Amino acid sequence: MAKKQKHTEQFKNFNLVVFGGTGDLALRKILPALYHRYIDGQLLCEYNIIAISRKTGIENEFKKQLLQFIKKSLTEETINQKEITAFINRVKLIQAKDSTVEGYSELKKYLNQFKEYQNIFYFSTPSSAFGPISEALKKSDIVCSDSKVVLEKPLGHSLNSSIAINNQITKTFKEEQIYRIDHYLGKETVQNLMVLRFANNLFERAWDSEHIDSIQITVAESLGIEKRAEYYDKSGALLDMIQNHLLQLVCLVAMEPPFVLRANEVRNEKLKILRSLRLFTKKSIRTDSIKGQYTRGSIEGKQVNSYLEDIGKYESKTETFVALKAYVDNWRWKNVPFYLRSGKRMKKRYSEIVINFKEVKHNLFPSKEKISNNKLIIRLQPEERIELVQMTKIPGPGGYRYKPIALKLDYLDSFDFRFPEAYERLIIDIIRGNQTLVMSQDELIAAWTWIESITNNWKNVSLNNTLYEAGSWGPGDSILEEHESWVTKSWKK
Ligand code: BG6
Repeated sequence: MAKKQKHTEQFKNFNLVVFGGTGDLALRKILPALYHRYIDGQLLCEYNIIAISRKTGIENEFKKQLLQFIKKSLTEETINQKEITAFINRVKLIQAKDSTVEGYSELKKYLNQFKEYQNIFYFSTPSSAFGPISEALKKSDIVCSDSKVVLEKPLGHSLNSSIAINNQITKTFKEEQIYRIDHYLGKETVQNLMVLRFANNLFERAWDSEHIDSIQITVAESLGIEKRAEYYDKSGALLDMIQNHLLQLVCLVAMEPPFVLRANEVRNEKLKILRSLRLFTKKSIRTDSIKGQYTRGSIEGKQVNSYLEDIGKYESKTETFVALKAYVDNWRWKNVPFYLRSGKRMKKRYSEIVINFKEVKHNLFPSKEKISNNKLIIRLQPEERIELVQMTKIPGPGGYRYKPIALKLDYLDSFDFRFPEAYERLIIDIIRGNQTLVMSQDELIAAWTWIESITNNWKNVSLNNTLYEAGSWGPGDSILEEHESWVTKSWKK
């Protein structure tokens, strides 16, 4: 049985108001995350949870669904019906027919009973609704200086649209009140990147182009697009995964140590990395990017449809796989390729960062067998593990024979705590007012600028998708020779 941690930190009392409160994200992630912190004993303050819905008369159905989702997030032994019921009873469903002062009158009446609480407005809706919701909140006079707003991705579909969304939000909220979520930053293994790099002298000494040959960041998913056809077909893998999650991982791997662990200092270091990403050109887009789309195939013995069948639109050119060779043009990382790959309907689900160190300069051993380079493998999911691959002598006679062996650190073996979900940490940080793990608007602009050098050049050179079979490792198997070495490098598991 995992141990519980003791909590003493007192947060300011809060009202958490979730717009899109009966939607998938609220049911699957946001509310169960809060439940876990509630049973962990971390919510020592007073609080109210309000789910906003356009519909009426769905309270019973909603609560039934929430019960199922909370149970799903627990193991058999940790399901405690009494605690779950107590939590669900705290969740109030309020109807808002539309985003107007009139529409928010019931919400206002409710919040006015708790005037001294901080209001946290969580926008779990399409981003087209962000502007109207914030405007109506402002006009309803329920936003105070200590209120916060939480924004879920996608924040637009281009640089301009993302700036437009921000301009609407900032009419109501200041930058210090805005929490732009990237749930990858809430993952324990992702946060551990900071500790691994900056609490260990060993790695940081060799963390540069002098010692590192290349870095691979892979997020492979065996899932398809589930029930999100409409959203996904407008985004594709580049906007859905690379623009946010993979770029944030690049930042954490590549950034300079901030002098203190404070939101602005951390975010400024990440911003410098985003700004130093080398923009793609008409030339580099052909050699250093690949996009693909899955066709029918089989995953774990089960036949699955093609992307086009999944979305029911046969002319779609949306990519479900991207591989990029990216560069961070600064002193530390000059000419070290960052291989970024992400795809749907891959053979297996795994996310991993591999730091490939350079080979030793000279082989002094008589056998002259190849000495493999050291690798630091940071497995983010599904297992949480770090491996350091190093050359080791094979015991016994025969002179110096050696082979690569990994030193392994398995998180679950090392800690007797429950492994929290990404949203738990993020929500608690929002309540306590810590912006370290959320994105600033400047980061977003820098990320979009780089992404547009890809989307624009894809258009300029009319780069087509390479098809790949669902259940394979993407287009690497069939792609042009010149890509082969980097697309397939340590990719197939
Ligand atoms: C989301 C994407 O942000 O991240 C999804 O929209 C993707 O398409 C998901 O499946 C992956 O998250 P995780 O935590 O399962 O790796």
